[in-house]
Amino acid sequence: MTDFGKGDTSWFTHDRFGMFIHWGLYSMPGRHEWVRNYEEIPDEAYEKYFERFNPDLFDPKEWAKAAREAGMKYFVITTKHHEGFCMWDSRYTDYKVTNTPCGRDLLREIVDAFRAEGLRVGFYHSLIDWHHPDFTVDSVHPLRNRPDREALNAGRDMARYREYLHNQVRELLTGYGKIDIIWFDFSYPLWESGKGHLDWDSEGLVKMIRELQPGIIINNRLDLPGAGDVTTPEQNTPDDPVTDADGNPVVWEGCQTVSGSGGYHRDELTWKSMKQCIDLLINHVCRNGNLLMNVGPTSRGYLDGRAMERLKGFAEWMKYHSRSIYGCGMAEGLLEPRDCRYTFNPETNRLYLHIMNWPFKHVTLKGLSGKVAYAQFLHDGSEVKIRDAADRAVHSGLLHKTVQGAVTLELPVVKPPVEVPVIEIFLK
Ligand code: GLC
Repeated sequence: MTDFGKGDTSWFTHDRFGMFIHWGLYSMPGRHEWVRNYEEIPDEAYEKYFERFNPDLFDPKEWAKAAREAGMKYFVITTKHHEGFCMWDSRYTDYKVTNTPCGRDLLREIVDAFRAEGLRVGFYHSLIDWHHPDFTVDSVHPLRNRPDREALNAGRDMARYREYLHNQVRELLTGYGKIDIIWFDFSYPLWESGKGHLDWDSEGLVKMIRELQPGIIINNRLDLPGAGDVTTPEQNTPDDPVTDADGNPVVWEGCQTVSGSGGYHRDELTWKSMKQCIDLLINHVCRNGNLLMNVGPTSRGYLDGRAMERLKGFAEWMKYHSRSIYGCGMAEGLLEPRDCRYTFNPETNRLYLHIMNWPFKHVTLKGLSGKVAYAQFLHDGSEVKIRDAADRAVHSGLLHKTVQGAVTLELPVVKPPVEVPVIEIFLK
């Protein structure tokens, strides 16, 4: 297999939690970032957004602060989504933010603000482009059902689009300092009139990227097996750690949304509860994954109340529980108790028991007899008493039968006042 080089994922698998931001013209219709596709909107009809894009309440420092407080260690921002609109001052197109009433390079301001808060920088960049005149009309293009589709394609030249794509990626990777992640979206070679690595010249792209930004993490959506550093399932939580085709574990990151849309969607109602959000984070890390949690700012440039509420909820939980997330992954070989998830930090040799659904007075940790030195709640550092099945004194206890080979933790009847309580277990 071709050697495509490798990105540095050591920080990534340690940090575990990032913010995804979908922001573009689509925040104005506020009906999903795919609105052009869903509603088959032609260029002329989409112009009204370009002519009026002016996020007057934009303050990237607020976003960055909210992200840092939520415990997020990196962020990935849409430089260009499928609609083709560029959030930076690209010299290769007029279809960019600096030509709207906004008139500023928003990408630069966002990057600066997040860096100042200590977060690493990732760029989402759409391979697909529904605005570029050389991007052929295929089965996902907004103009796909036009009777003159073939005629529309007559003059289009993907070679020119490819050059545009490469030029813009070079521009993004040379004009904004160190970029930690480039997140391409997406290839669809098997779809009707789909596109894949030859359309993008993925090989050439990867080669250029590795030269420009050594260490950068490239995701797996270039249709180039072996070239991606990170596998990116979305809108579902894999049941098990993600593997490659041969069953080998891979670095993976689930991208999820706080509501059912990436871009700001005013009327979408499937907002996840705070409990669901925290569960998502735990369920990713306990399977060796990262969580990239998306928010979609409004067209006026702020994160609406519903999004801020979720970020604050993460902040509240992470303030006390980040130790069970950073540096942690799957607790291999251990059977999780009912309604619980483990994460494990191999460096500190501490095991974290996340109690997703509060039980009555006890939780039994199978296979840990003789292995637990101490246990405490993470939120307040208060001791959790342990009863080891191997400890003879325990056998005289009438209230609770010990399970062979297990350790039983004594819990308060009332669930501690945190979304998901965590017990930190110091292993011997
Ligand atoms: C899917 C969505 C796209 C989004 C991406 C990342 O590909 O269709 O809009 O940008 O996931 O979440």
